[in-house]
Amino acid sequence: MWPINGASKAKRIKWGAVQNQISWVYMKMLREGNKTLKVYDVNPYVEVYRFYDNLYGLFNQNLDGAGDVWMWLVIGPKKAMVIDTACGLGDLKGLVDEITENMPLVVVNTHGHSDHARGNSQFGTVYCYETLLPKLKEQDEHIWDKYFDEKGNPLWLEFDRNDIPPFKKYEIVGVPDGYVFNLGGDYDVELIFTGGHTNEHVMFLDKKGRFLFAGDNVCSDVTGCGNGGGKYANLSTFSKALTKLVERINEYDYIFPGHFMVNLENHLMFSLLETVNAVINDPNCYDYKITHISGGGGPGRVRMHKFIRGFSTIAYTESGVYVPDEPTI
Ligand SMILES: [Fe+2]
Repeated sequence: MWPINGASKAKRIKWGAVQNQISWVYMKMLREGNKTLKVYDVNPYVEVYRFYDNLYGLFNQNLDGAGDVWMWLVIGPKKAMVIDTACGLGDLKGLVDEITENMPLVVVNTHGHSDHARGNSQFGTVYCYETLLPKLKEQDEHIWDKYFDEKGNPLWLEFDRNDIPPFKKYEIVGVPDGYVFNLGGDYDVELIFTGGHTNEHVMFLDKKGRFLFAGDNVCSDVTGCGNGGGKYANLSTFSKALTKLVERINEYDYIFPGHFMVNLENHLMFSLLETVNAVINDPNCYDYKITHISGGGGPGRVRMHKFIRGFSTIAYTESGVYVPDEPTI
């Protein structure tokens, strides 16, 4: 992909898989032309966009070759919520404190992948879905090693390793499906279990702002399902969650995913559900098959892709369609 003239201090060395052209143009126009863009001295790696009065998108480059990442900052009446912590590059806590003028924070993760949870350690406490807790507990000071060669040079993104705040142990609190975080007054945000992209994946429904923070289960590049194994990282589990989210469509207007295009209209969920169910009914109904280059440099995976009407594709593997050990339809 040709470089985007972004405002972050870090510069791209190389990408993994080629990215979706339409998403790329969207990101180019946003990053080179959005009038709300601001970069704060406290963290020169993060591009801050103000999408709504109380909703900021904190755009972070991915430290590996996969797609760049959104963190979300929701300002409630009494507390602010940070949704995902990206790769942990630069002073994220200091940045959030400056934007919010030191409001108390509720920090949450949509899932545990390295591009969404490596900044957790900068915050004292992080909330997650209960089954993600043991995985987050495995984090240590080596979580950034894979981004460097044996001489200590960055492999994918040019940045100064000293700008990653040192890892420190932090409190992790697991909460159940349906748990509601109150940001003051009647400002509630609900954790909704979805599975799909990972075994422990959740979304966050901001009931007051009417936003759905979808993590990696909605993506204008590739919506990848069934990563990382486990009972719930599959399309059948995701279909059940999507069915409930479609039933609740009147509770949110816009969708904010963890990568690429954001501020998507809620009716996208109908097309997504339609596509997921088509694959469940016939896993061979895909449009094309492709071997993906791993963003982390590992061996490629063969995935089937099916177009989501008017959007991107859903990508899945043979083992990522049905719930393991449950009868299929
Ligand atoms: Fe991701």
